[in-house]
Amino acid sequence: MNWHIRKFNIIAPIYQLFFSYQSDYYSEKIKENIDYLNLKKGSKVLDLGSGTGAFAKGWQNAQFKVKAADAAPAMIKKCRENGLDCIEADLLEGLKFEDSSFDIVTAAYLAHGLSFEERKKLYKEASRIASKLVIFHDFGDKENLFINIIEAIEGSYYREFIKSVPYEMESFFAEVEKIKINKWHNWYICKVDDRD
Ligand SMILES: C[S@@+](CC[C@H](N)C(=O)[O-])C[C@H]1O[C@@H](n2cnc3c(N)ncnc32)[C@H](O)[C@@H]1O
Repeated sequence: MNWHIRKFNIIAPIYQLFFSYQSDYYSEKIKENIDYLNLKKGSKVLDLGSGTGAFAKGWQNAQFKVKAADAAPAMIKKCRENGLDCIEADLLEGLKFEDSSFDIVTAAYLAHGLSFEERKKLYKEASRIASKLVIFHDFGDKENLFINIIEAIEGSYYREFIKSVPYEMESFFAEVEKIKINKWHNWYICKVDDRD
């Protein structure tokens, strides 16, 4: 297990303290955007880097069929306790899902924690597995000093990421749209090439 995953394994119990708040917030945002995105309830969703399962729970609450995946065993345990179907998988090693096997692939706060080379793997895998959309919930391009300090302590790629989204995603998807979720966060809605 690399240091990035080990770090999440250690902080899983702390993450769990925010699960209810986070999943309620995500549920509200999903409800607000579901019609605009023309998403059908009952569609299959794969949530990557699920952590304790807050984003996945939001989709499950909105009646989607959800599978969660994470690489940190302690996160997976919490995710299952939170009522999600969660598997252990490291996306950097390639995911064992068939092409187009989910309608939608989602990932919240996963991309900015990865290096550019790792993000390219994420975009490639997500676009391979999704048949319609990939949705990234992550930081927007407005820099925030407080987030900057926290993310620097965490050793994430926050500053590099916010400077190159959504442009860095464009070569992996047919279309990328940005939806403002709040002052500091966006959804990056990535349409997958029609493979039919
Ligand atoms: C910042 S947390 C976000 C958790 C959750 N999506 C949320 O919004 O609360 C990032 C998660 O991504 C997972 N992760 C990081 N790198 C990963 C990888 N290569 N494969 C799978 N999961 C990964 C971590 O274990 C962690 O649970």
